Amino acid sequence: MTIRPIIILPDPILRETSTAVARVDDDARALIADMFETMYEAPGIGLAAVQVGITKRIVTIDLAREGEEKQPMVFVNPEIVWSSEELSRYDEGCLSIPQYYEEVERPAKVRVRYQDEKGEAHELEADGLLATCLQHEIDHLEGKLFIDRLSKLKRDRVIKKFQKQAKREHDL
Ligand code: NI
Repeated sequence: MTIRPIIILPDPILRETSTAVARVDDDARALIADMFETMYEAPGIGLAAVQVGITKRIVTIDLAREGEEKQPMVFVNPEIVWSSEELSRYDEGCLSIPQYYEEVERPAKVRVRYQDEKGEAHELEADGLLATCLQHEIDHLEGKLFIDRLSKLKRDRVIKKFQKQAKREHDL
């Protein structure tokens, strides 16, 4: 297993649409193992493959708190097949937009169809933090970030801040 570098805003890879995984093979499972390693090390509760530069439709999630037993969840080719009209708000963050948090409103419940690490199909109904996290990560597969759901003013401000940071690092 390898900890992979996390792609940070404004890297254009984050805006790419990820492609479906045709077969969940050993290569995909190796990537999934790296994604968990990378996510735990960050630390974060969710990661999409595109965030380590691989534009494949794979998401890893673990909502266990520090000190609790790990609860790794893998979603290959996840698809939202239903979402509730009821909304909920969560303070979201993203490993690709470090140290930035903002409240985002999304459907409170979703039903997701996906494949596991063996390629078997499942459906899951989620609410609470898991519903938010799934929607956030599935957005990544479409090249969408949570800041896209904020006002233009807030979004432009955070993008500008990260552009400046990237430029500073480049100039060093
Ligand atoms: Ni994210």
